[in-house]
Amino acid sequence: MGKKLEKDFLSMADLTKHDIAEIMAIASRLKRYKYSRQLENRTIALLFEKPSTRTRLSFEAGIIQLGGSPIYMDASTTQLSRGESLEDTAKMFERFVDGVVARVYKHETLVTLATKSRIPVINALSNLEHPCQILSDLFTIREKKGSLENQKIAYVGDGNNVCNSLILGSAIAGCNIAVATPDKYKPNNNIVELAKRISPEGVKIMNNPYDAVSGATVVYTDVFVSMGDEASKEERLKEFLPKYQVTKKLMSYAQKDAIFMHCLPAHRGEEVEADVIDGPQSVVLDQAENRLHVQKALLLKLFNLVAYL
Ligand code: CP
Ligand code: NVA
Repeated sequence: MGKKLEKDFLSMADLTKHDIAEIMAIASRLKRYKYSRQLENRTIALLFEKPSTRTRLSFEAGIIQLGGSPIYMDASTTQLSRGESLEDTAKMFERFVDGVVARVYKHETLVTLATKSRIPVINALSNLEHPCQILSDLFTIREKKGSLENQKIAYVGDGNNVCNSLILGSAIAGCNIAVATPDKYKPNNNIVELAKRISPEGVKIMNNPYDAVSGATVVYTDVFVSMGDEASKEERLKEFLPKYQVTKKLMSYAQKDAIFMHCLPAHRGEEVEADVIDGPQSVVLDQAENRLHVQKALLLKLFNLVAYL
């Protein structure tokens, strides 16, 4: 069932179904009332090893809207880039700020930051997971479809960080998920096993996108070449195209009122046809906006400030 949210949010598996429901209730409220003061006198560092538009903007704007102060740090301009240890860096965060939002190449970096400091650490994307994305995506699905119960989510493409978190999030929230990837680019095996333990009937991994999408209420895809995978770009495009592109034809196998989701940034003509991502079933802009509301709710929960809402 996922474990109860404690100090850090590194994985979707750090949440129970109840945590997800609670964060969504707070997010709905914050979506109506944008500005408040619950994070007054709190300073939160954003340590980013990779580029970002949405995650950086939504965390910085969200922290400011809650009365707190964000400090953005491009990791390449810190002493980490000159060999200072992660352990010492974690101790510095603990001395200067109240929490860290970190986007990293290696998931282990997050684990070290979290275990070596007493302040909350939030995964803003790693090679293994993108839990802030999926937590907000569950909110978007609930907003668009009315409930998370009985949803059939199809993920088509690369079994990457977004896919891993979506598998866990679906299993914990009680949605069914079918994932279609080439054998070579399957989702992380430990994550799939964990999700199947949580939801034995609800998680299916396959190769055929048409089987995955058939009858789906939500169709989700992400880039074929994630940050850090650039060296295998050519090989990946050969493997994924044309079979794993979300086209209008593939969408026609989903339910008529199915929604199309993508975490963005998107590559039109690669993982998705422009007619789909820019078409009437696409919810990608609302999906992006919800990052703001849901991450604000997550911050309040991690800082035990929910009672002050
Ligand atoms: N979806 C997402 O995390 O986007 P950014 O890389 O722009 O933050
Ligand atoms: N899978 C993508 C997600 C970007 C938000 C990446 O890691 O680059």
